Amino acid sequence: MIVVLTGAPGAGKGTQADLLVSKRMFKKISTGDALRNQVRAGSEIGKKANGYMSKGLLVPDDLLLGILKAEIAGAANDRILLDGYPRNIAQAETLKTLNSDFPVRVVVHLDVPEDELVRRLSGRRVCGECGTSYHVDTNPPKVANVCDRCTGKVTQRLDDEEEKVKVRLKVFNSETKPILDFYRNEKLLREINGAEATESVFKSLTGIIDNFI
Ligand code: AP5
Repeated sequence: MIVVLTGAPGAGKGTQADLLVSKRMFKKISTGDALRNQVRAGSEIGKKANGYMSKGLLVPDDLLLGILKAEIAGAANDRILLDGYPRNIAQAETLKTLNSDFPVRVVVHLDVPEDELVRRLSGRRVCGECGTSYHVDTNPPKVANVCDRCTGKVTQRLDDEEEKVKVRLKVFNSETKPILDFYRNEKLLREINGAEATESVFKSLTGIIDNFI
């Protein structure tokens, strides 16, 4: 089965997805992580995708589809968590056609006010090696700029710069928000308050997801 986690940039999708991987044995498929891996590897897809990601824009669906299909096909585990897909109506329609073996059981929207999203993203720092996420005020690494987990270098994501955050939030409002109505009509949507502390959000999330596993 597929669980979709949706929400604006900075809503906490990645944070909650990692908890579901470790505590509920989900396989996480993050299209953002998969694209960043392609960029790092310098692949053709990565080069093309980077032109959009670095501006805060969505990567065209055709660049993403191959990656998504490969990730889903490689999922031996039957609990798949989609983090960051779908992000527009066309992708939601595509997912419907892909999911005969793995139906979407529930779509959870992490709802967070915009000022909190900006606070989270502007202070976020990420390890370039293992992807562990930090926040300069609320969750800094023990040694400045050094990852606690793997000693990799901790830096700001290029798309977390202020101007790009503004674009990403605009793109979320215009392109991704319509999928909420799409899944509401399909009776798959659940919404939770993502502005609470991480542990409280996880409790609300598992309160929903545990009914399906
Ligand atoms: P992606 O990597 O998916 O980025 P995003 O959706 O913008 O989401 P973020 O990773 O910024 O935030 P998040 O919700 O995961 O929050 P996090 O847990 O990190 O996509 C990047 C780009 O790739 C896109 O812009 C696009 O170009 C492309 N792309 C990806 N998928 C695509 C698709 N399907 N189609 C087309 N293009 C696509 O948390 C953020 C911060 O807040 C962290 O510092 C964290 O520690 C903190 N935090 C988390 N939860 C809490 C809490 N409860 N309280 C306080 N702080 C918290």
